[in-house]
Amino acid sequence: SKPTILVTGGAGYIGSHAVLALHDAGWPVVVADNLSNGRREAIPDGVPLVEVDVGDAAAMADLFAVHPIAAIMHFAGSIVVPDSVTDPHYYYRNNTVASHALIGAAMKAGIKHILFSSTAATYGAPETVPLDEDNPTRPINPYGWSKLMTEQMLRDIAATGAFNYGALRYFNVAGADPQGRSGQASKGATHLLKVACEAAVGKRSHVDVFGTDYPTPDGTCIRDYIHVSDLAAAHVLALEALIDSPSESFTLNCGYGRGTSVLEMLDALDAVNGSPVARVMGERRAGDPPQLVASNRRLVERLGWTPRFADTATIVRSALEWERRLAS
Ligand code: UFG
Repeated sequence: SKPTILVTGGAGYIGSHAVLALHDAGWPVVVADNLSNGRREAIPDGVPLVEVDVGDAAAMADLFAVHPIAAIMHFAGSIVVPDSVTDPHYYYRNNTVASHALIGAAMKAGIKHILFSSTAATYGAPETVPLDEDNPTRPINPYGWSKLMTEQMLRDIAATGAFNYGALRYFNVAGADPQGRSGQASKGATHLLKVACEAAVGKRSHVDVFGTDYPTPDGTCIRDYIHVSDLAAAHVLALEALIDSPSESFTLNCGYGRGTSVLEMLDALDAVNGSPVARVMGERRAGDPPQLVASNRRLVERLGWTPRFADTATIVRSALEWERRLAS
């Protein structure tokens, strides 16, 4: 039988989709989440939720004493780029310092595998795309630094033989579980498709387009939007790789290798929705690189990952269906 996996942030947006993927594949799961953004309802029946802050090493030691954890998927953290610009101290505490505490508790408990939620924000503002994992990491916002610093801790500690780790650098995660079991539910959402879907269901009057003078074909920023369930599937494959090859660690980009501008994304939503969402063209937002597109060659080669929901209309439809479900 399969060993038990701890999912930190498992009640949150991406973490809850990973919990579903693990649960569907028959892995026993324990969730650690302080419910600051997460929702209890996102966790399937039968999966224990320990309400805890992952930065609380003593509380994590208690968790590890009760639950026989073989590996950790570490999602818990803060993810809003502009918030990290206005409150960097909080971002370093909640991402880097909390991860440091979690890693220490995991080492004391003898846990041998850690899969970490990292980000394309570690690359900063690259001049050319697509980006492979050898690209220099020069973050342009505290969020990217807070994640890169955690990657560095994992790399240095893994080199001592304490554990192996995988760092998955997510590009722009979007969409919702195709079966409607979970989706993005964060209050005060800031992510483009989420905000646009809220506007489509009448929760907002419009979408602000942050910057129309970027050096891109239509002047708006380009991102590589990846369906959250394809990303969750990559996590299960990455976990298996960590367990199968305990002396190997890896860093892998997670994206489709396709760039979509802000306006193209809004066009895709309008097409699926059947009526246009109001757009207000505005100024640039702090901390936004003009373009981020992944090379996913290593993810595909290393893990044998096959995306299933890459079509932009599929991503948009699942996000909109989830938003309608939340609104009803
Ligand atoms: N945008 C708008 N209007 C909005 C929201 C966003 O125009 O209301 C624009 C942004 O300016 C940006 C693009 O849409 O150009 C995407 O912005 P998001 O806020 O959706 O996502 P980010 O690219 O800022 O960040 C996300 C994750 C990070 C990750 C990054 C990697 O939050 O964790 O993608 O590409 F690092």
